[in-house]
Amino acid sequence: MKKIEFKGSVVLNPVPVVMVTSKNKEGKENVFTVAWAGTICTKPPMLSISIRPERLSYEYIKETMEFTINLPHRKQTWETDFCGVRSGRKLDKIKECKFTMEKGKTVDVSYIKECPVNIECKVKNIIPLGTHDLFLAEVTGSHINENLLDENGKIHFEWADLINYCHGEYYPMAKNSIGKFGYSVAKKIEVEEPKKEKKRKYGKRKKGIK
Ligand SMILES: Cc1cc2nc3c(=O)[nH]c(=O)nc-3n(C[C@H](O)[C@H](O)[C@H](O)COP(=O)(O)O)c2cc1C
Repeated sequence: MKKIEFKGSVVLNPVPVVMVTSKNKEGKENVFTVAWAGTICTKPPMLSISIRPERLSYEYIKETMEFTINLPHRKQTWETDFCGVRSGRKLDKIKECKFTMEKGKTVDVSYIKECPVNIECKVKNIIPLGTHDLFLAEVTGSHINENLLDENGKIHFEWADLINYCHGEYYPMAKNSIGKFGYSVAKKIEVEEPKKEKKRKYGKRKKGIK
């Protein structure tokens, strides 16, 4: 396949799309949409979000150094888009979206109850990059809808009907797995060969012999 060359631009796709809640020192809460989010460390558990300084959420998060990440399900695609195209400076997005705000356990910021997964974060470092500042944060707690856990306590994010973002469009997450971690190197299960038909003891009958 012939390749078309592009100068340095952000083409990493698809990405998660999340709603981030924050609170300022006066106790005002806000929510905005973020696509530049990622997992960056296992121990301590850390993630990052990139925020433009002109966002109201940037101000709020910098003031209290806390936020929550809320993973939207498919039925919240409208809210996800809305919170990403309207600023909390102009209207109360939490009210407009009729979100139920639940008090955080480890942070003083509420999370969105209607989202199936909520992650509480404390900012550890802010790195100015250019258009965006990178917020590195420790995950201090999370809340997951109980219907996403199986009988062994395994979380099935694939049951949550989550969405992702790809080059300006929202997509539902596929439900069926196409491979399991490590399957490429996993031992192959020996499949028993079906028994071959026994050869006829005396071979084929010759023509003419009865
Ligand atoms: C799909 C989508 C992804 C977005 N991702 C980011 C992002 O990663 N960082 C950012 O600063 N703004 C991002 N935005 C823009 C903000 O969400 C938007 O400017 C929002 O209105 C800011 O709200 P606020 O002023 O209330 O904080 C995104 C918007 C959309 C629709």
